[in-house]
Amino acid sequence: MQVLIINGPNLNLLGVREPDVYGSQSFDSHLEVLKQNYPKLDLVYFQSNSEGALIDCIHQYGFDVQGIVINAGAYTHTSVALADALAAVPAPAVEVHLSNVFKRESFRHHSFLSPVVKGVVGGFGLYSYNLALDALINYAD
Ligand code: DQA
Repeated sequence: MQVLIINGPNLNLLGVREPDVYGSQSFDSHLEVLKQNYPKLDLVYFQSNSEGALIDCIHQYGFDVQGIVINAGAYTHTSVALADALAAVPAPAVEVHLSNVFKRESFRHHSFLSPVVKGVVGGFGLYSYNLALDALINYAD
């Protein structure tokens, strides 16, 4: 099973960026943990700060992979184009957030992605990604 993990803007700074909100571990180190914990998954990882590059990545992989885990960062709250890209491809997607966005500023409460994904996981730090992978592996509808 091949799964694409996509991180959007500013998530390249995980571990450095606002550690009180997002923790002090980099995503690269967590990716190694994910590869060890999910040895049967073929994980493809992509991060970009650019909306168009994220859309291109969804187009490139979304017809072939069996799942997408996406933390679109702030584009979650702004991007109709990313939502359209996810809706355009057959791969089921899970929206992920490290923080519990509903405990934060009201502008983070709306997601353009939520209506086009299978489900949403948030508030569990990097463990949110594990939960999203578990959902893709175990949940069938
Ligand atoms: C985030 C939440 C977003 O509101 C924020 O813009 C991010 C990270 C999260 O993982 O908690 O960049 O997606």
